[in-house]
Amino acid sequence: MKTQVAIVGGGPAGSLLALLLHQQGIDSIVVERQSRNYVLGRIRAGVLEWTSVEVLRDAGLSDRLDIEGHVHNSIKMGWRGESVMSIDVARLAGKPMMSYGQTMIQEDLYAAGDAVDANFIFEADEVQIHDVRTDAPWITFKSSGETVRIDCDVVAGCDGFHGVSRTVIPDSAKTEYEKSYPFGWLGVLSETPPLPTLLYANHENGFALCSQRNEMLSRYYVQCSLEDTVEQWSDDRFWDELLTRVPNSEASQIVTGPSIEKSIAPLRSYVVEPLQWGRLFLAGDAAHIVPPTGAKGLNLAIADVHYLSLALAAHYQGDPKLLEAYSATALRRVWSSVRFSWYMTALMHRFPEQTEFDQRAQEEDLIYLAGSTAAQTSLAEQYVGLDL
Ligand code: APR
Ligand code: PHB
Repeated sequence: MKTQVAIVGGGPAGSLLALLLHQQGIDSIVVERQSRNYVLGRIRAGVLEWTSVEVLRDAGLSDRLDIEGHVHNSIKMGWRGESVMSIDVARLAGKPMMSYGQTMIQEDLYAAGDAVDANFIFEADEVQIHDVRTDAPWITFKSSGETVRIDCDVVAGCDGFHGVSRTVIPDSAKTEYEKSYPFGWLGVLSETPPLPTLLYANHENGFALCSQRNEMLSRYYVQCSLEDTVEQWSDDRFWDELLTRVPNSEASQIVTGPSIEKSIAPLRSYVVEPLQWGRLFLAGDAAHIVPPTGAKGLNLAIADVHYLSLALAAHYQGDPKLLEAYSATALRRVWSSVRFSWYMTALMHRFPEQTEFDQRAQEEDLIYLAGSTAAQTSLAEQYVGLDL
């Protein structure tokens, strides 16, 4: 097979890149290891920066997003199980954000891909990437036992944190920055009405977050130990902890019910530099991971492929400058979100070695935030994200 851009990975980054390239008249093939249904079944984050909403709209994905997405003008932050502040991010930073689940975005992306006959190959095993230091790279994979070869001009590595693309860059040519956090998040979906406003809570038992998917679907998280298993978290234990950690005034409004999904994820920050190796370009989780506290992971993936699609369009029109600058351009935004996600994580979580002093210092940070428009503006600006 032959294409202009071979895209490894069909998650949000890879499938959006295929659509954006199609709009620019650039041909691509997406090669995804899992089945389509498997990718669609993954439950992931759900808060979009306004710039992400605009990129998705421009890619033709507005129909369902504009109906089912919930525009939020503010977030709440609580502490001590009793105090709560509301930060009016739309007023302070000039943009709102939107709750719209990644699962729905993935459905929209595949539907839009189908509508333009985008070339997605699912269940592609053993993807290998070859000769990216030449002008004629190629990839191979196994499909139903047969080896398939795709010749291309460029390879886009959109295959997530555990993908193969990043490993193609030799250790001597890349720098990796990593931080693992000593806790995880237990996520729960329940068919109950959510709180109207996103709520982040700091508590001496650990962090908690109340989020939503739609009027009758809530998404909650509580900080848990990395050794915990979901079997150790009965619904009763989960609701008890959530209601303890969330300020009373909010806890009294939470409607509990049976969970329909429960999973535990570790928290990690990771960045690889540069995002380019010859004709291989990394985007999304293949290049960086942020802890979910700042709600940035999906937004960074969308920003990366926005920059990459514009750079590839310029490249095919004979201007190499944007593509040469892709890594530096994307990394500027990446580090800004990495710093913010790390800050929010440190502010809101209970660390294993944390003393009463540290707990009071965290709470004081929140009290300062509650009383300072300057501090709230700074947080709001980072929460809603930089302009592209
Ligand atoms: N070959 C082909 N496909 C692969 C390979 C491989 N060797 N390894 C992984 N993949 C696929 C995965 O199955 C997955 O569908 O690449 C895709 C990567 O998708 P994501 O992990 O979702 O990463 P990305 O598209 O960068 O999306 C960004 O934002 O909210 C965050 O982490 C969340 O997934 C989200 C991310
Ligand atoms: C979610 O809705 O899944 C969500 C919301 C906010 C976050 C992280 C996850 O910071």
